[in-house]
Amino acid sequence: MKLAQIKNEFHNVLRKLFPKEEIDTFFYLISEKFYGIKRIDLTMYPEKEVKDEALILEALELLKQQKPIQYILGETEFYGLRYKVNEDVLIPRPETEELVEWILNWYSKRSEATTDINILDIGTGSGCIAISLAKNLPQAKVYGFDFSKNALKIAKENTKYNSVNIEFVEGDILNEDAFETYFNNDKFDVIVSNPPYVRAKEKQLMKPNVLDYEPHLALFVEDDNPLLFYNAIAKFAKKALRTNGVLFFEINEYLGQETVLLLEKFNYKNIVLKQDAFGKDRMVKAELN
Ligand SMILES: C[S@@+](CC[C@H](N)C(=O)[O-])C[C@H]1O[C@@H](n2cnc3c(N)ncnc32)[C@H](O)[C@@H]1O
Repeated sequence: MKLAQIKNEFHNVLRKLFPKEEIDTFFYLISEKFYGIKRIDLTMYPEKEVKDEALILEALELLKQQKPIQYILGETEFYGLRYKVNEDVLIPRPETEELVEWILNWYSKRSEATTDINILDIGTGSGCIAISLAKNLPQAKVYGFDFSKNALKIAKENTKYNSVNIEFVEGDILNEDAFETYFNNDKFDVIVSNPPYVRAKEKQLMKPNVLDYEPHLALFVEDDNPLLFYNAIAKFAKKALRTNGVLFFEINEYLGQETVLLLEKFNYKNIVLKQDAFGKDRMVKAELN
């Protein structure tokens, strides 16, 4: 088939599901990934024949079934780096890049000039937070923690892909004795987490590409205990943070005040609730008292 014919097929099949510009982008990304065709060539040589069109038509079928483009391509970008992703890991989100940015800004302004800094990312998934921090803070020792063996497999591949060292630990942060069980008394200057925080009742607001393909273990919590992970991590961090240690969370936009109250209950100080680029409550920082 000619490129122009395949492009038409993309628009015919996907027209009802996505805006025109997004379909063009899908077509470009898939042509580049599977056939090494550059965007400029798509416009300049529309008559060019694609030899083995089965690959691209299969990708089109998956897009029609609302499979996220990142899973089809097997990779995505986050904070300027490329990451391998599959259905075992959450696709890194732009709001999480804002959390990384916040941590790096905080670090550049903090008064203590310790070079030895330990960072722990709880629920590391693809490793996007841990790896971005390790890349930008080469002096830091970074740990990534997750319950999912398969997610940790991808996170490890991503450390190789991005040439950083991270110590990965598999375990359950809801285990009351997580610190003693998994960390051998190693303490941290920074604990960061983007834990599962979507309430079951918020499912109706979500699109099929998220609901049907992204790991539910990474996303959902019960309606009656939405701060389950924040509670467990706040408690864990009381033991696991070093003096002057700091906790950073990504949060559910509807639960900003509740998260702040929870951290107050645990006697954290200098609690800051921060909005994302869309003005939604999205991040919290708290210091050990
Ligand atoms: C919202 S995802 C965040 C992934 C990644 N850090 C990011 O920001 O894109 C939450 C992660 O928490 C992990 N997780 C879920 N339950 C857990 C538990 N009990 N203990 C440790 N990790 C858990 C999931 O496997 C998932 O990777």
